[in-house]
Amino acid sequence: MNKKVIGFIVAIFVVVIGITVWFLLTSENSSNAEEGEQSINENASENENVAIVYFSATGNTKMVAQYIQEETGGTLFEIEPEEKYTDRDLDYNNDDCRANEEQNDPSARPKVKDKIEHVEMYDKVALGFPVWWGVAPRVVNTFLEENNLVGKKIYVFVTSGGSSSKESYEDLKRTYPNLTFVNHRRFTGNEDKNEYIKWISE
Ligand SMILES: Cc1cc2nc3c(=O)[nH]c(=O)nc-3n(C[C@H](O)[C@H](O)[C@H](O)COP(=O)(O)O)c2cc1C
Repeated sequence: MNKKVIGFIVAIFVVVIGITVWFLLTSENSSNAEEGEQSINENASENENVAIVYFSATGNTKMVAQYIQEETGGTLFEIEPEEKYTDRDLDYNNDDCRANEEQNDPSARPKVKDKIEHVEMYDKVALGFPVWWGVAPRVVNTFLEENNLVGKKIYVFVTSGGSSSKESYEDLKRTYPNLTFVNHRRFTGNEDKNEYIKWISE
């Protein structure tokens, strides 16, 4: 065999080895990518049975509820009071405003427009509301008393001017000892969106 033929065989050999190594490396990367995708998808499907139920008078809680829905792929429900709250109703500097009167009366149960359909289908309920004088608006009590959430994992989220979620959470736990409250968070809407998945996965 002359030198040219040997050189040609060696060159082919090097090319074949190169292609094999390249193939092995890229197939390993793509299977890693598939694994990554799968775990994200698993996370999403784990959260498909989340109902995100919220009350919002001025839009802050609604915005956070929508973010949670986008991240978890759950189903959004709004607690709509039969009588919408006007700016005057929410003027908490005025002792006689409707919101203050309701919050001053622990037995107040403002009527909800429509019963939330099939909330019993969900295993997890993310329950959101604005903090009103430290606790949940009374219309949230109406919702909890008109729907059977026994056995569901309830995750409480609030928005507020600064108050934490602790007081309203403890108050709900005390009022409804038969319900399973898992945890509570105050969200602003500015947090890293992964926080919503982490929180609801507990
Ligand atoms: C009647 C009333 C009482 C409130 N009480 C509190 C409170 O105790 N602590 C607090 O930090 N913010 C309080 N806020 C502010 C709201 O919690 C805050 O603006 C909230 O993000 C509004 O949410 P929404 O836009 O979803 O209605 C109160 C607001 C109203 C109207």
